[in-house]
Order: sequence, then structure tokens, then C-alpha cells
Amino acid sequence: MAKNILTLCLVALTLCHLTIAFEPKPLQDFCVADPTSPARVNGFACKNPMLVQANDFFFSGLNIAGNTSNPVGSKVTPVTVAQLPGLNTLGIAMARVDYEPWGVNPPHVHPRASEILTVLEGSLLAGFVTSNPENRLITKVLHKGDAFVFPMGLVHFQRNMGYGKAVAIAALSSQNPGIITIANTVFGSNPSIAVEVLAKAFQVDKNIVDQLQSKF
Ligand SMILES: *[C@@H]1O[C@H](CO)[C@@H](O)[C@H](O)[C@H]1NC(C)=O
Repeated sequence: MAKNILTLCLVALTLCHLTIAFEPKPLQDFCVADPTSPARVNGFACKNPMLVQANDFFFSGLNIAGNTSNPVGSKVTPVTVAQLPGLNTLGIAMARVDYEPWGVNPPHVHPRASEILTVLEGSLLAGFVTSNPENRLITKVLHKGDAFVFPMGLVHFQRNMGYGKAVAIAALSSQNPGIITIANTVFGSNPSIAVEVLAKAFQVDKNIVDQLQSKF
């Protein structure tokens, strides 16, 4: 009996370890990304620690508003391992998001990260949709100082509620969260997904699919 309990505990501990092994704890002080290394690892190989400088842990420019002159009226300024090599293996990243009045950060997914968004200026409608079969839409109007979390892998969006410009800072639980923008992925893939597939999937005429594909 005692042996069975011990086995159960070991199995539970192993499973627990497997879940936290996702972007695991570093086994050293840091592993600054060396994108020039030919080594293929999950993430980037480490730069020689003796050559690491303060600037490897530094990013400047989050005070600068992104250019929102685009069809959706928003701009994301990312700070991931691609911009800040010191984030390699640490499992975190951030972004600044600017929104013009009524601008939208369109529905998208981060395949590798949960996100917590803090509003610095303006008001945003934030929302996400739960997975099948409920597909429940959960929304909240956020004001300056409010924070809202988007759980990992769920489709989410924000819209500026129109009272001037809005600015938010997002924190993400991956050094490389990834972005899958739904419209671009579905209607703007290269090469295109066959019109027949999308017409049936979205239950619309093929000419509507053509029109959507021409925009992305
Ligand atoms: C913002 O982007 C638009 C469209 O790409 C461009 O025409 C404009 O010059 C940009 N503005 C600034 C200040 O960079």
C-alpha cells in the first residue's frame, strides 16, 4: 500500500515536472541569444558569457508611439528575444500597443504565451473567445491602469473605445510568443487556401472568399 502511494507520488511529480518543463527554468544565470550560431536548439544557442554586455539585456524605445496609419489603426512594438537577445530561455516578453481612435488590434492568437495587458492611456474594449464547443465571448472595457489577461492560445482582440489615442503594455509568458492573426492566416496564406475550402468553412459564396482573400 505504502509502495503504491509512493509510486503515485512519483508519477504526479513527473507529470508536474513535464508541465513546468515548457520553457524550462534556466540552468545558468543567462543564455543570451546568439542568432549567428549554427547550433539548432529549442530557442537560440547561448552567446559566450564572457562576451555578454549590458546592451544584450537592454531595449530602448518603448516611449515611442507606433505608427497606427494602417487599415486596422493599431501598431504593436514587440520586445521579444528577436529584439532583446537577453530574453533567450527566460520565458517572458513584452510589447507596446498603440491604437488610434476606434483602432483595432485584430483577433489573433499567441501559440506559446498567455498575455496580461495594462492600459496606460485611453480606453479599450478587450475580449477573448473560449474554445469549442462553447465559443463564449468574454469582454471588458478597460481604462487607464486596468489590466486584463488573455489565456494562452485563445483568440483575443482589443478596440480603442474612441476617446483619443490609447496605449497599452503587454507582458507575455514566452520569449517568443508568436502571433497568428486570424484574418491574415486564413485569408492571406501563401499560397492561398482553396476558395472551396474557405467557402464551405465559413458558409459563404466563393465571391465573398475572393473578396476577403484580395484584402490580405
Ligand atoms: C506612418 O505610416 C504611413 C503608412 O505606411 C506612412 O505613409 C507615414 O509616413 C508614416 N508616418 C511616420 C511618421 O513614419
